[in-house]
Amino acid sequence: MCRIIAIANQKGGVGKTTTTINLGVGLVRLGKRVLLVDADPQGHLTLGLGFPKNVERTLKTMLEAIIMDCPLSPETAILKHQEGVDLIPSNKLMAGLDITLFSVENRENILSNYLDSLKERYDYVLIDCMPSLGMLTVNALHAADSVIIPVQPQYYAADGLSELLKAIYVIRQRTNPKMDIEGILYTMDTPRFNNSKRNKEAIRKTYGSHIPIFKESIPRAEAIAETASEGVSIFFCNERCKGAVCYDSIAREVISHEKIQRNTADIL
Ligand SMILES: Nc1ncnc2c1ncn2[C@@H]1O[C@H](COP(=O)(O)OP(=O)(O)O)[C@@H](O)[C@H]1O
Ligand SMILES: [Mg+2]
Repeated sequence: MCRIIAIANQKGGVGKTTTTINLGVGLVRLGKRVLLVDADPQGHLTLGLGFPKNVERTLKTMLEAIIMDCPLSPETAILKHQEGVDLIPSNKLMAGLDITLFSVENRENILSNYLDSLKERYDYVLIDCMPSLGMLTVNALHAADSVIIPVQPQYYAADGLSELLKAIYVIRQRTNPKMDIEGILYTMDTPRFNNSKRNKEAIRKTYGSHIPIFKESIPRAEAIAETASEGVSIFFCNERCKGAVCYDSIAREVISHEKIQRNTADIL
């Protein structure tokens, strides 16, 4: 069964795109079929996987075709990456899509409709969201079975988290009651710094009783930052480095959630 996971936080620079790439490749290395969706007009996921910014067919192409009621074959925009993940790319031209979406009927359903046509080919679809709570992010949250919230444990980290959680709860109540929160994932962590400890403790106290937090956090590491310009994951650079080991743990934790959710569904 395919699980669609949105990687969301309306704050920019918190590690959403980096997590999408490395969790995606981590899941492929554990035998899963993975599709990554670039739902940010900045196209960082597309560039970070080494594809050009002027790529012709994008998520916009696919969603506009659905809006115009002349859907294209679902795999039209899919690109194949050397490390085994598939990608639906995006670029700056997608910027206008938010406005187009706003004016159509069932506007929060469009991405979900498109992904429905691809679901049976994948075990996981990871959607890299843009740093805002616009229509495209609403579409991602509507399509998602669960959400991962990357958070950098710094001062003000919790700022904005409540806005995102409010949006998640509204979407849950209105259109997507099955959506889970996979967890808060600490990124670019400097675990030995008191600052990091203090901020993680503050987040745990405020949210920990009702939102899961991933056991493993992702350390701040030069090697992870460098992979973006090389179009590969941290596993490709050095599968034994700390960053790769941590993203591997996160991938295993995500898979273990799948088992827990399946068991719960069995009991119910
Ligand atoms: N664990 C990490 N260690 C060091 N740099 C990181 C790490 N994760 C992300 N970065 C860098 O931080 C910047 C922001 O990350 P990115 O994934 O693009 O965030 P977002 O998608 O939330 O805007 C990028 O330059 C990225 O290379
Ligand atoms: Mg990004």
